[in-house]
Amino acid sequence: MPSLDQPIAPTPPTGVSLTGASLASPLVSNSANNAMTSAERSILLGITGGVAAYKSAELTRLLKKSGFDVQVVMTDAATKFITATTLQALSGKRVFTDLWDDEIPNGMAHIELSRYADAILIAPATADFIAKLASGHCNDLLSTLCIARNASACPLVLAPAMNREMWENPATQRNVARLLADGVIILGPDAGEQACGETGLGRMLEPTVLQAEIEAIFASKALPKPLAGITALVTAGPTFEAIDPVRGITNSSSGKMGYAVAEALRDAGAIVTIVTGPTALTLPNNINAIQVNTASEMLDAVMDKISEVKLFFAIAAVADYTPVTTYSQKMKKSGNSLTLDLQSTVDILATVAALPAAPFCIGFAAESENVVEYARKKRQSKGIPVIVANLATEAIGANDNQVTIIDDAGEHPIPKASKLKIAHDIVAHVAKLFLSQAASHGSAGSTADSATNPTAASPITTPIEPTKLPRALNA
Ligand SMILES: Cc1cc2nc3c(=O)[nH]c(=O)nc-3n(C[C@H](O)[C@H](O)[C@H](O)COP(=O)(O)O)c2cc1C
Repeated sequence: MPSLDQPIAPTPPTGVSLTGASLASPLVSNSANNAMTSAERSILLGITGGVAAYKSAELTRLLKKSGFDVQVVMTDAATKFITATTLQALSGKRVFTDLWDDEIPNGMAHIELSRYADAILIAPATADFIAKLASGHCNDLLSTLCIARNASACPLVLAPAMNREMWENPATQRNVARLLADGVIILGPDAGEQACGETGLGRMLEPTVLQAEIEAIFASKALPKPLAGITALVTAGPTFEAIDPVRGITNSSSGKMGYAVAEALRDAGAIVTIVTGPTALTLPNNINAIQVNTASEMLDAVMDKISEVKLFFAIAAVADYTPVTTYSQKMKKSGNSLTLDLQSTVDILATVAALPAAPFCIGFAAESENVVEYARKKRQSKGIPVIVANLATEAIGANDNQVTIIDDAGEHPIPKASKLKIAHDIVAHVAKLFLSQAASHGSAGSTADSATNPTAASPITTPIEPTKLPRALNA
């Protein structure tokens, strides 16, 4: 069966006109027949009109080298920066640019090309192309095939590249937020020196980084998606309670466990928002992030979002106390002892769990002794269906963890592993509980009933079956 996988004819095209491209590799006329024929991993690389387009040549080479079948599609503007001939030589396939390509038997290149791809990567993605996608415009081949793709089967991944002012422009930020909400994956941009001579956010991620991200996306694509379309909110990291402009009360939470759970939820198909205190971590891709400092800001951010979510993971190490007074000027040292007046902060998890239509709540208990016993009590006092107990002295800041999930059925220990692996196991376990509860309520909607009144029955111990992860995620 003729397909997009077939090699191009020896005659190279002239520029981007494609008039020299071969008809020996026509697209099939019926898209239903246009199933993947040879390559298992097909990626459509879209190139738009930015200076970083030169890096797409190297990206094509790297993707090919790691076993991807690469089909390049360029916008008109992209052809001003790099020729189709270069991309054709590197991909070994004809490059497409024209929505009205009359060499396609059924005349519908946008359908044929989008059905060919297991994923679409736009690198570089210009501000203009991002705007076009965010508003659903389809006035060239690349934008039309993106809109025409089967969104549930074919992830759309963008690697933005533009001047820092263009990136920071509210219109671009609005468009990016809209695309994230639509499930589009945004990789980068990076910060650094730009072609225009300015320095800031807007550089396209390096081809090696993009290639690794694409590998990870294909690995996560292979994972089951039990939470497809379910909204989830995660809190992560420490909070910082200011004493004066330069001092404050915080804790040694790194945020690694919370970020890992956010990633695992995303990999399970959930639409994830993370409310994060100050950490040194890079924000995970394809996750909405709200950055806060104080316990009170974290509470506000959570309460602002909570009505939109079905799952709530409280993983942040929120300060229990905050200074009564925050001094506006740096406090001067004196020889005397100092007493700080502290007041309790609001318990975010308990507040959420007590809502009339509370989401399904999962708490984390980091204890330094009697870990499981304290966690069990915490679960009861907060009125939540699930708590995850871990030993604070070993877990905080580490890359590995060892936890026990406590729910109505008892205790489920998860042996020591990377936080990402542990996070996938926790999410798989929670997904089962959440979905069975949703099924018994007739929907994945209100979770208020089980969010309160957890059973205090004597616990049983059932080790949970570890999720089967691709090697990259087991690392
Ligand atoms: C020299 C030059 C460099 C440009 N570099 C970028 C860039 O890096 N990122 C960007 O978003 N737009 C850049 N532009 C503007 C885009 O090329 C322009 O918005 C174009 O319409 C994008 O078309 P496309 O999105 O269809 O590819 C540049 C324009 C010029 C003339």
